[in-house]
Amino acid sequence: MDALDALHLRSSVPKLSGPAPSPEMLENIYKAAFSAADHAVLRPWRFLVVKGDSRKRLGKLFAKAGVANDASLEPTAIEKLRCKPLRAPLVLVCISSFKPHPKVPEIEQDLSAGAATQNMLLAAFAQGLGAMWRTGSLAYDPIVKNGLGLSNEEKIIGFLYIGTVDGGTKQLCEADIQSFFQEW
Ligand SMILES: Cc1cc2nc3c(=O)[nH]c(=O)nc-3n(C[C@H](O)[C@H](O)[C@H](O)COP(=O)(O)O)c2cc1C
Repeated sequence: MDALDALHLRSSVPKLSGPAPSPEMLENIYKAAFSAADHAVLRPWRFLVVKGDSRKRLGKLFAKAGVANDASLEPTAIEKLRCKPLRAPLVLVCISSFKPHPKVPEIEQDLSAGAATQNMLLAAFAQGLGAMWRTGSLAYDPIVKNGLGLSNEEKIIGFLYIGTVDGGTKQLCEADIQSFFQEW
């Protein structure tokens, strides 16, 4: 796919199924992260690849966090948390991994990690895959962060759900693009 088409046409796909991306597709996705703008080339990111039965382990962790936050959680709500990672054959946990640097504050490093994550979304779309960037309160939950082995300097900035498009893709939102750009 043409680069501008990917940039102009990408949209999120909430309904995903198998098969998971091929190893070659995955390599293209990983590689795309590394062309993100990155002050001082700190590579302030890392990604956990969660597939197969590991998704069930992630679901258990989500459920554990849910129950710890609300002991009265209904069994159906617990089950919903447990099933979240099963919504796609592959989940990438995207982590902003702060590296202290005299010229690069944390905000810039978070932005770089976000740019790397967006690049991966685009690389998935460009290869005909479906993908969606999700967070929710679980991304900021200390039990989830701890269970995934994050250090104190690290943040989960997203769960990228990636798979095969299951159903249609949605219409792109029309925006009054010009109104977001003012000559100054
Ligand atoms: C940091 C971040 C977190 C997000 N978290 C969620 C989420 O938890 N649930 C959700 O439905 N959409 C979430 N979104 C939005 C979707 O990924 C998506 O961008 C949105 O539905 C608009 O669709 P589009 O990407 O096709 O324009 C998040 C987006 C970003 C950038």
